[in-house]
Amino acid sequence: MPDAQYEKLDEVEKLPFNYGHFRRLLGYARPYRRKLLLVTAVITISTILRLTEPYLLRTMVDIGITGRQPRVITQMALLWLLFQAIGGLAGYVRIRILNDTGTGIIYDLRRELFDHMQWLSLRFYDGRPVGSMMSRVTNDVEAINNLINSGLVTIVSQSVSLIGIVVVMFVLNPRLAFMAFLVVPPMVFAIARLRPRMETGWRNVRKANSNITANLNESITGIRVSQSFCREGENIRRFDELNDSYYRTFMQAIRIEWLVWPMADVFGVVGTGLVVMTGARMVMQDVLTVGYVLAFIDYLWRFWEPINAISRVYSRVLSAMASAERIFEYLDTKPEVLDSPNAVEVDDITGGVQFEDVCFRYDEDEPYVLRDIDLTVEPGQTIAIVGPTGAGKTSIINLLMRFYDPQEGRVLVDGHDLRDVALASIRRRMALVLQESFLFSGTIAENIRYGSPDATMEDVIAVAKAVKVHDFVAKLQDGYEHQVEERGGRLSVGQRQLISFARALLRDPRILILDEATSSVDTQTEATIQEAMHTLLRDRTAIIIAHRLSTIRRADCILVIEDGRIVERGAHAELMASGGPYSQLYRRQFAAGALPAGE
Ligand code: UTP
Ligand code: MG
Repeated sequence: MPDAQYEKLDEVEKLPFNYGHFRRLLGYARPYRRKLLLVTAVITISTILRLTEPYLLRTMVDIGITGRQPRVITQMALLWLLFQAIGGLAGYVRIRILNDTGTGIIYDLRRELFDHMQWLSLRFYDGRPVGSMMSRVTNDVEAINNLINSGLVTIVSQSVSLIGIVVVMFVLNPRLAFMAFLVVPPMVFAIARLRPRMETGWRNVRKANSNITANLNESITGIRVSQSFCREGENIRRFDELNDSYYRTFMQAIRIEWLVWPMADVFGVVGTGLVVMTGARMVMQDVLTVGYVLAFIDYLWRFWEPINAISRVYSRVLSAMASAERIFEYLDTKPEVLDSPNAVEVDDITGGVQFEDVCFRYDEDEPYVLRDIDLTVEPGQTIAIVGPTGAGKTSIINLLMRFYDPQEGRVLVDGHDLRDVALASIRRRMALVLQESFLFSGTIAENIRYGSPDATMEDVIAVAKAVKVHDFVAKLQDGYEHQVEERGGRLSVGQRQLISFARALLRDPRILILDEATSSVDTQTEATIQEAMHTLLRDRTAIIIAHRLSTIRRADCILVIEDGRIVERGAHAELMASGGPYSQLYRRQFAAGALPAGE
């Protein structure tokens, strides 16, 4: 994979915290707002109860011990126990509800993302490594759960605690409180200064993570090629680089926290020192009791706990925000190929196909791969497309399936511009066998039935017989129930192709499109398939990218494509007689012994 495919890490930049994304993220919590309100209430109650502890301590010291009233000591101890018990219960409720909500939000988000990606146009998929797309649906969604499960609890409980403590401290003694909070403004200032670096840091961690998945995916998929070319060492080196980059970005992001926590501690100690000094003097002046000062210092320590906790969680929020940004980027990508608002539903088609002056390129900054393509296929005709590699044959099919829209000209089926009809209603009547056949994990029967879930087993067997794959399947131990591994592993390429062929035929399409791969099927099978095809193609329109003479000779019309243009068209005999490009191609490709027996 060229390194350009990997996501580039950002330089530190001062981006404003994206409140839009944050609000949008909160939107996902909306369906759970009752539960979340309940959690907030529970957390608030238990936090307030915990806040009474220093005051219980003060009462115990000042009244119980100093005033020698053992009953007060017992009362305070019992109250403390009770509050602890309630706190424990609250903790249980909190964990239960939050797990439920967090997982629920992951579920919703993943589904939305997956649904959306199913509709995205091929152009979207063209330029992105599979692993990096996977990473968004897995890791990035997970990061958001993290935020909700632990981040939210911390933020809610610690904010409540913080507010409570500040209020209590000012109520207890405004002068001491003022001393204690002298250190807060410089601290807030320091954290605000560090924030942009933290944000960039976490965004980079997510990118580095996604690069690892992208590399992993390709390494696993391409392992055969890697091993055959002895690229293991090089692969390990590349992976090390990415792994290293993750290590570095993570350490960079977390390094700022190493600064933040001790800094908070230092500020805390300074604040406490000020309070101890002022408090001691006030006790000596008999303005305050020892119990008050003790309670106050206790509160002060508790004051730093939420500050610490929130600053720690802050990095998690930033990390989740980076993930949210990546998820929203996908969600905001509009499918390019989209039914127009007044798209016509087509009930049935007869199978006429027309290209009118079509020009097409895959990317705006790349040259055209198809130019001025004009062609008309009458319903029921078989058209063969031939031409050298890279000529644009598959691209024609990509337009006919409307995987892409042409930049110029129109593609019509039964006289309807593909851009004006409900795509599904047309695709329903078309079937495509790709150049590289793809099978899904599942049984052979499921794969054949992929586009026609309602087909009966008899139908499945009938098409399998027609494409001569039945004998092979019947010999398998579990026949049609045989499990095909991912991407059709454990089946030969030819077998996979025949199964894809059966899958297309089972749909009983009006327009059958075949992108034949060269020589995946032996000549014997080929001949029998041709026999079957003859019948099968009789009342369908067929557009076949052909590499075999037998297919080509039967075609009503042969199109010769070179360099994105149709350079010649006509029936086999005609083209041979004219001595043009086709006859030359024919000689080069077929005359040198590649002719199937009997041709
Ligand atoms: P095609 O994929 O249409 O060629 O690519 P083809 O005629 O079917 O070739 P074979 O016989 O299967 O090998 C036509 C041109 O479009 C470019 C290719 O680089 C090629 O030059 N192309 C193809 C893209 O730019 N992007 C793609 O996703 C596919
Ligand atoms: Mg091709």
